[in-house]
Amino acid sequence: MTMINAVITGIGSYTPDRILTNADFEKMVETNDEWIVSRTGIKERHVVSNGSGTSDLALKAGQRAMENAGIGPDDLDLIIVGTVTPDYQVPSAACIVQEKMGAFGAAAMDVSAACASFIYGLTSASGMIRSGQYRRILVIGAETLSSITDYTDRGTCVLFGDAAGSVVLEAKEGNAPEGVLSSVLETDGRYAKLLWIPVGGSVESYDPDSEGKQRIYLEMNGNEVFKVAVRAMVSSSRKVCEKAGVSKDDIALFIPHQANIRIIDAVRKRLGLPEEKVFVNIEKYGNTSSASVPLALDEAVKAGKAKKGDLVLMVAFGGGLTWGASIVRL
Ligand code: UT7
Repeated sequence: MTMINAVITGIGSYTPDRILTNADFEKMVETNDEWIVSRTGIKERHVVSNGSGTSDLALKAGQRAMENAGIGPDDLDLIIVGTVTPDYQVPSAACIVQEKMGAFGAAAMDVSAACASFIYGLTSASGMIRSGQYRRILVIGAETLSSITDYTDRGTCVLFGDAAGSVVLEAKEGNAPEGVLSSVLETDGRYAKLLWIPVGGSVESYDPDSEGKQRIYLEMNGNEVFKVAVRAMVSSSRKVCEKAGVSKDDIALFIPHQANIRIIDAVRKRLGLPEEKVFVNIEKYGNTSSASVPLALDEAVKAGKAKKGDLVLMVAFGGGLTWGASIVRL
């Protein structure tokens, strides 16, 4: 029986040139390279220069993915941007990307699921393609976390960076499943305030005349988030394998959200995966939220760690709390 598959035909990523090293943070807050490397695995992160926004990173990553797929802006039916740092509150970052790209035939929308936004976007896109609604969707994960980071809070500021990663997802008719084989999305809103920005939304808007410091930056209860992250990433990885009917030994490469090397190691051990099957680039970029998984996918493919036909398991976790996993045959 012929089926419509949602296949990744292009991958791209982009990181801004400006780099903040651990030595830079030693001058900003009471911290040191040894603590940051041993507790997180991070050595550097890339950040935008003033005047650049998420759409600029998203545009470049998206264009690279389209070039890789051999398609142009006129070919797109939909642009999905996963982000928690859109250029503006209204309109969505995807609308700005559509305009900059000149993809005026494409609809555009953002998906907001914190660090899991790319997996949420990929899952939405693959469903739309498999249902026959669209044939070509550009899925981007892009963040300018430097715009919502409190650079006086040592507990969070050393963690985050800016980046974008993207895939082109296309419809391909076939007799056997390929492309995105299965996905699992999960949420637990009871943990909403473990990782959040209290001020600036509809409940408590930003007050420019306020005298005290307003809580307009990301706040995180790192310890609690850590524990849920490990449990959630392990469980959704297992569920997605079961749903796709594959065993962990079939997986050629595991691409986890890059939030903390200790989380990645704990998840890897619980899943019983060998180190060489797990892609890690956190030392160069830190936690780039929605961009983390597609950026890692792009680097992994370019490094030859995953090739056409391989099964790749991607899993992400973030504020919400939200998490999810996708298995893709490249
Ligand atoms: O991407 C979305 C999901 N996010 C995550 O998954 C992040 C999950 N959480 C984490 O990765 C970790 O919890 C952190 C990296 C955020 C923190 O690591 P931790 O091992 O949980 O440290 P902690 O918060 O328990 O802090 C331990 C100590 C504290 O000092 P005291 O109270 O023991 O004296 C902190 O004040 O480390 C201190 N500390 C630091 N010291 C030097 C916290 N941040 C720093 C720092 N430099 N940057």
